[in-house]
Parts: sequence; C-alpha cells; structure tokens
Amino acid sequence: MRSNYCGELNESFVDQEVQLCGWVHRRRDHGGVIFLDVRDREGIAQVVYDPDTVESFAIAEGVRNEFVVRVTGIVRLRPEGTVNNDMGTGKIEVLGTQLEILNAAETPPIHLDDHSEVGEDIRLRYRYIDLRRPEMTERLRFRSKVTNTVRNFLDGNGFIDVETPLLTKATPEGARDYLVPSRTHPNKFFALPQSPQLFKQILMAAGMDRYYQIAKCFRDEDLRADRQPEFTQIDVETSFMDEEQIMSVMEKLISDVFKKHLDVELGVFPRMPHAEAMHRFGSDKPDLRIDLELVDIADLMKEVEFKVFSGPANDEQSRVAALRVPCGASISRKVIDEYTKFVGIYGAKGLAWVKVNDIDAGLEGLQSPILKFMPDEVVHALMKKLEAQTGDIIFFGADKTKVVNEALGALRIKVAQDLGQIKEGWAPLWVVDFPMFETASDGSLTSLHHPFTAPSCDAKQLKTDPLGALSRAYDMVLNGTELGGGSIRINKVEMQQSVFEVLGIGKEEAQEKFGFLLEALSYGCPPHGGIAFGLDRLIMLMTGATSIRDVIAFPKTQSAACPLTQAPGNVSAKQLKELNIRLREQAAPKQS
Ligand code: AMO
Ligand code: AMP
Repeated sequence: MRSNYCGELNESFVDQEVQLCGWVHRRRDHGGVIFLDVRDREGIAQVVYDPDTVESFAIAEGVRNEFVVRVTGIVRLRPEGTVNNDMGTGKIEVLGTQLEILNAAETPPIHLDDHSEVGEDIRLRYRYIDLRRPEMTERLRFRSKVTNTVRNFLDGNGFIDVETPLLTKATPEGARDYLVPSRTHPNKFFALPQSPQLFKQILMAAGMDRYYQIAKCFRDEDLRADRQPEFTQIDVETSFMDEEQIMSVMEKLISDVFKKHLDVELGVFPRMPHAEAMHRFGSDKPDLRIDLELVDIADLMKEVEFKVFSGPANDEQSRVAALRVPCGASISRKVIDEYTKFVGIYGAKGLAWVKVNDIDAGLEGLQSPILKFMPDEVVHALMKKLEAQTGDIIFFGADKTKVVNEALGALRIKVAQDLGQIKEGWAPLWVVDFPMFETASDGSLTSLHHPFTAPSCDAKQLKTDPLGALSRAYDMVLNGTELGGGSIRINKVEMQQSVFEVLGIGKEEAQEKFGFLLEALSYGCPPHGGIAFGLDRLIMLMTGATSIRDVIAFPKTQSAACPLTQAPGNVSAKQLKELNIRLREQAAPKQS
C-alpha cells in the first residue's frame, strides 16, 4: 500500500510520486489549503491539499486526528520561510493528489503531543495509543536492537539458546509463585517460573555447556518502579568456568551493548566485597556516581551521655554512622524535617545532624541539637574523624545495623539528588563475597541469593557458622541499580543437602520440592555457574526511563493488573468445575 515511510522522505525525493500510509497527527486549515501531518513509525511528513484537487480536498476536510489514511502525492521543497529544521522531513512536503481514509478514529483520550496531563492508568488502558508516541516507539525499537546484540554476542561466544518450560514446579527466588491449576491432575498446580534457575542447571547436567535464554519470569511480589510481576531476564549458565571467567565474559557482553547502542566505554568494572559496600554506602547496590560515604563513629560514642548513640555504640548488632554532606549546611530546618520523615520509612527513629557553619570557630561554629550531650573532646575528635569542613551538614544514624544502613543508604541518594551531587555518566561494578544467609524477621535463616548458590567454605564450616559463611555469588550493579545477579552453583548432592539443612528444609521436603535436582546432581553434574540480567532494567537505564513500565509494551500496574485487557478476570463456572476449584463466597458488602 505504501511506497515509503513518512519519516524517510527528504530532498532526494523531490518531484517523485509517493504513497504514504499512516495516522493523521494534526490537521490544519490555512485559508483554503489543508495541511495534514501524517505520522508512521518512522516519523511525520507534511501533506498539503489544495482546493483544486476537489475530491481529495473534500476528504481532507473530514479527517480528524488519528484517522488512518493513505496519501498519494508529489514531494516538493517547502517554500522559503516555511522550512522546519526541528523535523527530519522539515525541508520538504508532499503535494497531495489523492487521499483515502482507511479507518476513522474516535477522539483519542491521549494527546500525542502533550500527554503530560494524562495519568498512567489511561496510558495503560489505551496502550496502543500511548505506544504511537515516538518516545515509546523508540524505546521498544531500542529494546529490540539491544536484544539482538545480546543474542549475537552470546551466539558468537558459543552459547545455545534453549527454551525452558513456563508450566513447571516452583523455583524459589524469594517471591510468591503464580500458580496455574491443572485440569488433568485435579487439585494439583503448576507454578510459573520465578526464573529458569533449575532448568538451566539441569541443562548443564545435560552437557549443554553454555546456555542462554531471553526468558520471561514471574514473581508475585511488592511492585516498584523497577519491578514487574512478569519481567524478562537475559539468563545465562556455563559449565567448567569459575566466577572470574564468568564475570569477565558478562562484563564484555554489557560493555558491547553500551558501546554499540550508546557509544559508551564502560571500562573495567571494579569489584567490591559486599561488606565494604554496606559499610561505605549502606547498600549492596551502591551508586558510585555519588561521592558521599557512611563513616562509623561507634568508637567515639561508647561513653557519651546521649543514650540514642551510646546504646547502639555498645551493641554488636547495631551501628552508629555519620554521613557528611559537603555544601549541605544551607539545608533548611523544613527540609531536615522532611529527611527525618524519609528515614522513618526505613525504621529510623530520628535523624540527628550537625551543621558546620565555621570549622575554624571550634564549638561556636557548629550548630546541632545533639552536641550538647557530648563532651567537647568527643566533638573535636568527631569533626577530625569526619574531616568536617565549613559548609558541611553531617547526618547521623544510630540503630540496628540494618536500619542504619537502609536509612542512611537511602538518604545518601536522596540528598545527592536534591543537591545535584550525582555525577554524569555510568558507574558499573561487581559486588562480590556476599553472605550465604541472612536472618529473616522470624529469626530463621534465608538465602541471600537462592539456595543453589555455592558457598566459599566447606560443608562443616557452613553448618557451624552459617551467618559467617560467604557465597560465590556476584551482582552487577550500574548506577545504583542491581542489573544482574549470579553465582557458582552447588554441583554436589551432599553440599546441596547441607544448605537445605541450614535453611531448615528437611530431607522429605527437599525430596518433594527438589528431588529432581538432587537426582540430576547425582548423575555427573559438572561444576557450573551463571547469571541473569534484568533486561527491562537494562533498557530502562540505557533509555533514561524512570520506570521499567516505560520499556515494556504491556506492563502491569502497581497492583499487578492489566488495564488494557482487564486481567486478571473472572472465569466461568464450567471452567472452575473442570479444574475442580470452588471459589469461596465473596464477603457481602458492608452495610453502612
Ligand atoms: P535474581 O533474582 O537476582 O536472580 O534476578 C536477576 C535479575 O533480574 C532482575 N529482576 C527483576 N526485574 C524486574 N522485575 C522484577 N520483579 C525482577 N526481579 C528480578 C534484576 C535481577 O538482578 N536465577 C537467578 C540468577 C542466577 O543466579 O543466575 C535470579 O533470578 O535485574
Ligand atoms: P531526641 O533526644 O529523641 O529528641 O533526639 C535528639 C536528636 O537525635 C534529634 O535530632 C533526633 O532526630 C535524633 N535522633 C533520635 N533518634 C535517633 C537515631 N536512632 N539515630 C539518629 N538520630 C536520632
């Protein structure tokens, strides 16, 4: 139907007849001449209809925004003074000779030029209109190109693309499962995979050696800007490679993507032990574009009369830390109050602070609600340790280590954002030497990654000091976002059983849930390891989008629903019966 895309026309087409197909972006009536901006995937072309082409002119009078049209016309240079240099096709226009309406359109609920007023619910409900916006089209196209580069890189490095099942058994990655009832096995359920973890390990047992998959994963968890219930991983597994080799190949993959699509050299990725990341940045995914760091001050606070500090300073499970912010002394009381509320989200009970108005003026130059509770020499030692300078503000956190890390770690980013202290560019790193386990709120142990991650120690050490055990895991972090995570896996039955034991998974439960994996390990499973990257997050970072929803064609809302299709939806009584499912009575609406 078309000879060319609208967006590809330029001066080289002058005097040629073209056929264009697309949407009417805008229609303007200019004293007897009608201008149609016709838009397709590649851009916009201006088409002019004169009253002498009577029939087409009459049709042009009737078209409205977002009508689908087919245009025939001759390309010509725009008259002098009407050239639009902001537009790819701004030097030419098409003198329309024919116009055909292929389909009419209702008045669109989203203005394509100014969508800023439109809520995301409307954008998701009418996603096909939202996706017509060049910004959105471009992001999906960019995603497609990056995926292609990833495939080429992995194919070129000997990785084989293997699809793994979606109807499967639970793969624990720390979230709830999406379950699918089985009709043929009444009362039994499939789980949608939280990741292809177990299958990719079994592919290693199968001798596949190098596997990859651009894989859909499903996790029923609390959603945020960088989390969706259904998302995509670049999933990789290899045999006979150690963590250094895997990190090196994966670093090359990500560097290749950045070089090809953004012309950015990421350089060598630094490595940082998990403990150091927590200590300096209060986070296991530190944003290294921010210079601010947490400094421990418990040693100075053990004896002070200020219980808020001396208590945690004398408790092993707690931390007293300071965050010195250069140029922060001008932050107002109102903003400090806002920051206090902000750290409250993470459980902090307050946010002590010191403003350094004049470091040379000694105590007189400091302004703070807490210094009065400390001996002068402690204050001096504190300023010395923090290398305080005139113009600084210093924030303090004193609480359980987890609370201080989360609160000051998040404040570090917020303050840097507010003061414009985040450097331009890209700051990748590997975080390594993670603990194997952490303590859940009920006191039980859980895996920091997943239960198939190999420890760096032997089984005996693992059992005697599980919280002290480190894992052979590695996370790739970019600008404060966890882009990917992986590890060397356990490939021996005994070690896998030891980890299950530490996690409180008994023999029977292990057999029931993971018997097939244990069996596969027992039939000659090679040493292996791998990684998975969040493709959506990668594209979000690369395109500068603020949410992964903006780089997914049909994402779900915060409550994990799809406004376009209205999923999840009701099912018929017949279907439920076939599945042997009876719904509980809906609670009757409350009488007011
Ligand atoms: P992990 O759970 O760390 O590891 O996931 C790997 C990467 O996937 C991305 N990701 C998500 N992206 C969007 N929405 C979500 N809900 C979501 N959850 C995770 C993140 C994360 O770094 N099987 C292991 C990998 C391995 O060990 O090889 C796994 O799934 O970018
Ligand atoms: P208070 O004595 O509770 O009024 O606290 C004095 C100052 O210490 C206030 O600025 C509080 O915000 C701050 N503060 C209270 N608890 C903590 C805490 N756990 N960590 C850091 N600062 C705190």
